[in-house]
Amino acid sequence: MASSTFPPITKAIFPVAGLGTRFLPATKAQPKEMLPVVDKPLIQYAVEEAYEAGVREMIFVTGRHKRPIEDHFDMTFELEVALEQAGKQELLDVVRSVKPDDMECIYVRQAQALGLGHAVLCGQRLVGNDPFAVLLADDLMVGPQPGRGILKQMVEHFAEWRASILAVQEVPAEHTRRYGIVAGNQVNDCLMDVNRIVEKPAPEVAPSRLGVAGRYILTPGVFHEIANQPRGVGGEIQLTDGIAGLLRREKVFAYRYEGKRYDCGSKEGFLQANVELALAHPQLGPGFREFLQGLGL
Ligand code: UTP
Repeated sequence: MASSTFPPITKAIFPVAGLGTRFLPATKAQPKEMLPVVDKPLIQYAVEEAYEAGVREMIFVTGRHKRPIEDHFDMTFELEVALEQAGKQELLDVVRSVKPDDMECIYVRQAQALGLGHAVLCGQRLVGNDPFAVLLADDLMVGPQPGRGILKQMVEHFAEWRASILAVQEVPAEHTRRYGIVAGNQVNDCLMDVNRIVEKPAPEVAPSRLGVAGRYILTPGVFHEIANQPRGVGGEIQLTDGIAGLLRREKVFAYRYEGKRYDCGSKEGFLQANVELALAHPQLGPGFREFLQGLGL
């Protein structure tokens, strides 16, 4: 059973070693996690969400072509000096806020993209024996209001239940093949005690329509389970299979989060995120709305 003495969640793994084939050609030579939605790269949204939830150790599982992610969270000395000399304090603050002083960024390499489970396993030595979060940056998650990010909501439930928690949402029946699908017993309005999880099932055999979104809080027992799984769907080492092993030993909860998810690993989701976040942007929003209205759609 999960230990009731788990410390709070301060570590997160960001698997960013995928090939991003759904977004070619944009991702041929640049990581999809660096694609900007309005004015920030996807990975920064995920890191900010984790920071807001109390995470301070950001562990990036990277691969080839992922150097821009490291550069983004590094200090940009020349740029900062140039902005300082030009008296552009506001822009300087923007640049500096990318990595707050109390945030640590650690990089570990996944030599081959063998699957999400394998990517998470690459972070094992850095996570050690603590519970941790996993955030998939291509799922851009927006809370119902500022300060209510999805991971923060999950951390609050973790503090109460001390067990792994998966973010879930209801998905259309024809989309079950895109998700890990969970089933179980409802604990309350938003939490389910999971007793089954299946990776990308066909609609006819899907145990429910609750699909896992790219936010997880996991207990360290999951590493052992992932390591002992054979290759799963698509020949990849699947995180879902590791979680299926975990829930035979520990409680795992599915949490229906409050907020919205944009699948920015797909071109449609990425465009939707850009439009909605631009409309909600305090400075750009009003002008952009006028522009859209002018299109007479
Ligand atoms: P995806 O299933 O979106 O795969 O991975 P992908 O390769 O990034 O994109 P497509 O499907 O080819 O377009 C979900 C998350 O897991 C990471 C990805 O970077 C993404 O954040 N991942 C996936 C890894 O880090 N390593 C892997 O081996 C596979």
